[in-house]
Amino acid sequence: MADREGYEPSHVPVLVNQVMTLLSPGNGGIYVDCNLGLGGHAERILMESEPDGKLVGFDWDGKALELARTHLARFGKRVVFLRKNFAEIKEALAGVGIDKVDGILLDLGLSSLQLDGGERGFSFRGDEPLDMRMDDRRETTAAHILNTSSEADLADLFYYYGEERQARKIAAAVVEARSAQPLKTTGQLVRIIEQAVPRRFHPKKIHVATLVFQALRIAVNQEFDNLLRVLADGSELLVPGGRFCVISFHSLEDRLVKRFFNGNQRLKVVTKKPVIPTEDECRENPRARSAKLRAATVLV
Ligand SMILES: C[S@@+](CC[C@H](N)C(=O)[O-])C[C@H]1O[C@@H](n2cnc3c(N)ncnc32)[C@H](O)[C@@H]1O
Repeated sequence: MADREGYEPSHVPVLVNQVMTLLSPGNGGIYVDCNLGLGGHAERILMESEPDGKLVGFDWDGKALELARTHLARFGKRVVFLRKNFAEIKEALAGVGIDKVDGILLDLGLSSLQLDGGERGFSFRGDEPLDMRMDDRRETTAAHILNTSSEADLADLFYYYGEERQARKIAAAVVEARSAQPLKTTGQLVRIIEQAVPRRFHPKKIHVATLVFQALRIAVNQEFDNLLRVLADGSELLVPGGRFCVISFHSLEDRLVKRFFNGNQRLKVVTKKPVIPTEDECRENPRARSAKLRAATVLV
């Protein structure tokens, strides 16, 4: 289904064969896809757990959930769709009568629909409103954070959530710019960053605004809090032998997952090193480039 004119969101799931091996979905099992997105991984889980495997799918983005519903319609009652934050996994599953599951998948980050298909300010390439909410029912936008936080808080945010070395310079430039007029669009922010960072410090492999955009997105969506909650509560929901698989897209997320898996007494790590996509996969699906997959199983 085309979303907006000329734009077709992609259902190609990242590292899908590796996820199936590690998650090992089977007939009769109950699986949770915490990031339904467009339903790519969910479709494979449902196919591999035929005829009676069940899937509970979370996505707090109403548009993504709508597309996933259409994409997965043929599986009928085997799928339950929840428009909720995956951090609420425990209460949400209790609400549909489930207290134990066989496998949980997290595929963090943005869907192609969010990145390329909307006017939501996730990309530094266009000129869109500085929104960055994956769930438009939430209140705080990127514009709100940029226009109301102190210079010190902005610098911390860019540094700790983006690992941006020029954090102080960029925060100072944001505060100066907003004293003339509030920031409203991604284009304004990109220009501020380009001017604040001296040419010789512009990174070679990524856009100069990449890390600030990452940091803002993490803050707007409270991504680290949500991740820590779903890891803790999710691991308690898994049956002995149950599998937890997580795909992350930057080192801060990957570090949280690695530490959690290594430090949890109930879990045995099954991926000593993270699984990464092949060159072929990266060529065919550039979104896969920075993906890292880690998996753990609950001790029997
Ligand atoms: C990378 S995409 C998932 C793609 C999906 N696995 C597929 O195969 O199409 C990530 C999705 O997770 C959703 N998401 C991110 N954080 C979430 C959260 N805390 N609760 C619920 N959904 C979330 C986003 O809205 C987005 O649609």
